[in-house]
Amino acid sequence: QKLQLNLDQIEKAGYEHFMLKEIYEQPSAIKDTYRGRMLADQGIIRMAGVDDNLERFLNAKRIIVVACGTSWHAGLVSEYIFEDLARIPVEVEYASEFRYRNPVINKDDVVIAISQSGETADTMAAIKLAKENGAFVFGVCNVVGSSISRETHAGAYTHAGPEIGVASTKAFTTQITILSLIALKLGKAKGSISNTDYHMYLNEMELIPSKIEKALESNKHIIEVAKVYKNAKNCLYLGRGYNFPVALEGALKLKEISYIHAEGYPAAEMKHGPIALIDEQMPVVVIATKKGHYEKVVSNIQEIKSRKGKIIAIVTEGDTSVKNMADHVIEVPETFEALTPLLTTIPLQLFSYHIAVMLGKNVDQPRNLAKSVTVE
Ligand code: AGP
Repeated sequence: QKLQLNLDQIEKAGYEHFMLKEIYEQPSAIKDTYRGRMLADQGIIRMAGVDDNLERFLNAKRIIVVACGTSWHAGLVSEYIFEDLARIPVEVEYASEFRYRNPVINKDDVVIAISQSGETADTMAAIKLAKENGAFVFGVCNVVGSSISRETHAGAYTHAGPEIGVASTKAFTTQITILSLIALKLGKAKGSISNTDYHMYLNEMELIPSKIEKALESNKHIIEVAKVYKNAKNCLYLGRGYNFPVALEGALKLKEISYIHAEGYPAAEMKHGPIALIDEQMPVVVIATKKGHYEKVVSNIQEIKSRKGKIIAIVTEGDTSVKNMADHVIEVPETFEALTPLLTTIPLQLFSYHIAVMLGKNVDQPRNLAKSVTVE
């Protein structure tokens, strides 16, 4: 018993839970993801799985992403990145819907399957269906040698290290890192981004781990905010553009470990229904970073404020306008719009973690959930 306890403590490296350890591992996990692949000073992105199949990627009429849960959210972020930087149309599909829908799959489609565990049954079935229809299937997995990594034609590992907490954290940010590298590589090869922008992106990507360190410094402040909202019954998460999928991911994290009902929405959709939910009892987490529809998000914040909603805003360091309107602000460093999800997701992970701990929930093994969902 005593030995077991010590082993457990050693594995958690001094953190109270695996989830917290894994949140804090993100700077090094992302470095491990791009190590040996991205040589920023030489302007090189080397990824065997992409290099060996470059023509298939460059000739792709569209990319179809299949995934579940958090991996699906990373897929949604990649839709913005691939369309923005590589100008390839992207469809992001829940693997569980795709596999049963009789979808149109063409031989020149590239299917990207994203899975931390590499064992998710629905994602596996979607891969098999895509292969039967002649598509090229590329896997983005974390677990080396997993079933999905073996079933796909080619792929790239995220190299995030073992993720033990059921709530996915470092898998999400490393998946986004891999997908961004692929988009940049294709954008450069296709000429859809300028050389200057390409180099600027690579240099900025190198700064992301230290910017995540900076974002993690808000932990104490986030604990204070979590104390205020720990008894909330509902929570709304809003974001636009690249940060819309981050809003979905923030809501999923809160739901799965604290059992508080939460919904993520594109901020502009509020007026089509969810605004009716807003009153003084409703906390609304708004991602309002300087890059990306800032003015529009600010007007969404005003709409919430005038209905007495409580606003927790994720803002760019030094922001003053949102500070004057929001009940709480949590700062993240500035970065390129396409890379903001790597930073804005950090405070949302910490927020849900602390609320779950305060409520006494089993953070690493929430009820009814398994780390890999190998059943349909
Ligand atoms: C995320 O926090 C979840 N536990 C869950 O949604 C997970 O992302 C999903 O089951 C997909 O898993 P995979 O990445 O291993 O395929």
